Amino acid sequence: MTPFRHWFLATLAASVVSAEQVQKSCLELPDSAAAHKEAVKDLFVTSYEAYQKYAWGHDDLLPVSESYSDGRNGWGASIADAMSTMLIMNLTEWFEQAVNYTADVDFTISNTSDTVSLFETTIRYVGGFISAYELSEKKYPVLIEKAQDLADQMVYAWVGEQSIPYGFMNFTTHQPTVATSNIAEAGTLTLEWNRLSEYTGNSTYQELAEKSVQHIINSSVPLPGMPAQGINPKTGNPVGGYVTWGGGSDSYFEYLIKYARLTNTDDNSYADAWLTAVDTSMKTLLRTSDVGNWLYLADYDDDKNIRHVGSHLACFYGGNWILGGKLASNDTMVNIGLQLTDACWNTYASTATGIGPEAFAYASNDGNYTGGAGPDPGQFAFYNAHGFYITSSDYILRPEVLESNFYAWRVTGDTKYLDNAASALSSFQDFLPTTVAYTGLNDVNDQGSTQIDDMESFWFAEVLKYLYLTFDDPTHISLDDYVFNTESHPFKAPAAKDTYGSVSPQPVPWQPFSPESTSTAPLPLVSSIPALL
Ligand SMILES: *[C@@H]1O[C@H](CO)[C@@H](O)[C@H](O)[C@H]1NC(C)=O
Ligand SMILES: *[C@@H]1O[C@H](CO)[C@@H](O)[C@H](O)[C@H]1NC(C)=O
Ligand SMILES: *[C@@H]1O[C@H](CO)[C@@H](O)[C@H](O)[C@H]1NC(C)=O
Ligand SMILES: *[C@@H]1O[C@H](CO)[C@@H](O)[C@H](O)[C@H]1NC(C)=O
Ligand SMILES: *[C@@H]1O[C@H](CO)[C@@H](O)[C@H](O)[C@H]1NC(C)=O
Ligand SMILES: *[C@@H]1O[C@H](CO)[C@@H](O)[C@H](O)[C@H]1NC(C)=O
Ligand SMILES: *[C@@H]1O[C@H](CO)[C@@H](O)[C@H](O)[C@H]1NC(C)=O
Ligand SMILES: *[C@@H]1O[C@H](CO)[C@@H](O)[C@H](O)[C@H]1NC(C)=O
Repeated sequence: MTPFRHWFLATLAASVVSAEQVQKSCLELPDSAAAHKEAVKDLFVTSYEAYQKYAWGHDDLLPVSESYSDGRNGWGASIADAMSTMLIMNLTEWFEQAVNYTADVDFTISNTSDTVSLFETTIRYVGGFISAYELSEKKYPVLIEKAQDLADQMVYAWVGEQSIPYGFMNFTTHQPTVATSNIAEAGTLTLEWNRLSEYTGNSTYQELAEKSVQHIINSSVPLPGMPAQGINPKTGNPVGGYVTWGGGSDSYFEYLIKYARLTNTDDNSYADAWLTAVDTSMKTLLRTSDVGNWLYLADYDDDKNIRHVGSHLACFYGGNWILGGKLASNDTMVNIGLQLTDACWNTYASTATGIGPEAFAYASNDGNYTGGAGPDPGQFAFYNAHGFYITSSDYILRPEVLESNFYAWRVTGDTKYLDNAASALSSFQDFLPTTVAYTGLNDVNDQGSTQIDDMESFWFAEVLKYLYLTFDDPTHISLDDYVFNTESHPFKAPAAKDTYGSVSPQPVPWQPFSPESTSTAPLPLVSSIPALL
């Protein structure tokens, strides 16, 4: 073969098998983007200056009372969560200050009287430190040391030979709190603990996180690929049969495809489990509202009833299907992901403040059952105008709708997603300010709503990062180069593989579904776990 012919064939082969890019090539930002980007940075700067002044070293700023709270063990959750965003916004001096503070914190002991959450500590602190370590070109190894200090305490959540960790533990005694866990708590560790093993050279972290997810993938399920929300760490059995993409289950599904992408593992079980969950969701959970034709993913309850409910938390699903659909080269999934994103955006576009509510419901051609009270007459009018009605009216600075909107922009280049982001930014500027910073609302459908006195750390980590990146140069933190953890901390990913998952996803071995009763171990309702991401 001539060298030319060899080159030609090799080029042809490479182009035939090369993976579909996630982001649209040659995205172009309109001139207005630069000013919007600066306006988002201003929100960050104002918020962080207030945090420094009134709450430095504590977890959250209380922006109405100009005080602080310590709901994340008092280690400075806002500092940990803000670091990766600072690096993206080039706030380098504050970043150095944050590293200096963190270097002096003792993470081997809770600085409050609370137990430690495996899930929250992993996604905010461990995830935040690892992402900051990478984004600062690995110049601050202390960030890995601190992440490891935390993980070395959290390994006690796995008791004996159990595959599933407990959700909370006492750092002083190394005793976990014995209670029912959920698949989000047990299944949202792989990205962070894999990276921790890579940087420490200790494979234990990755093995524990994988063992937990593998157990869930392999357990008996109410619907193919869709495990029940509850799980008993002691027995490893499902608890109840509640299936949802919302809180308590959400990031288990999110991480299946992201873990396959971050590691490029030859083990197809993660991607296959995700593909199976999406396939089932298309067949069983997709619902179109009978007003407005908005597309939602319903819940499926213990009694096998479809619940026509949605939530801000669950609205990550649009972005997750867009990403996974691209990786699996499945346009159907991408298109559904875009429609799910549009329906979630409609919950913003429809309210008096232009900000979406915590929870909502709708009706479709199979009724309007929600598991709770049906719509009251006042909600009926709202439903007929907007194709959803509000069941929890608060906004606690959650990111998921703008997160999916960010994926939709980077993947399609449709400027309507920039318009959405600009509209949300304007609503935040109008309705969220306190005297010193920004805060949540009790009623997004009331322009005179009372405020919620808390600035969650995910305001820094997620909302402001996704908004900023929407208006930023699309090659900065490209979705082809980074995988975001569920707290929006980006991890650098290797070049993508050709495809993710098996050509025909492997069905998991059939096992009869025999959950433990819910009556002895009540599951958390979505609305009762407001801080869960
Ligand atoms: C980041 O800020 C520094 C000054 O603090 C400046 O020298 C540098 O050019 C900035 N980098 C970018 C990418 O804007
Ligand atoms: C961080 O600590 C180093 C070493 O003590 C010091 O040189 C530097 O000025 C500090 N940076 C900030 C922003 O506080
Ligand atoms: C921990 O709590 C004490 C008060 O209980 C406080 O003085 C200290 O600054 C807190 N933070 C750290 C990192 O120790
Ligand atoms: C952790 O255990 C110690 C020692 O038994 C106890 O004093 C403390 O109250 C426990 N903390 C929590 C949050 O249960
Ligand atoms: C790896 O980490 C685990 C969990 O903290 C620990 O028990 C083990 O001793 C570590 N292994 C090595 C070789 O340091
Ligand atoms: C999955 O379940 C099958 C059948 O029960 C079992 O043989 C296999 O070892 C399990 N695999 C994992 C990773 O748990
Ligand atoms: C995309 O995924 C759906 C759901 O699993 C499947 O029915 C469809 O055949 C897939 N399309 C392609 C082109 O693979
Ligand atoms: C909900 O279903 C009930 C019973 O079928 C029906 O009377 C009611 O009009 C429905 N409400 C909405 C908003 O669709």
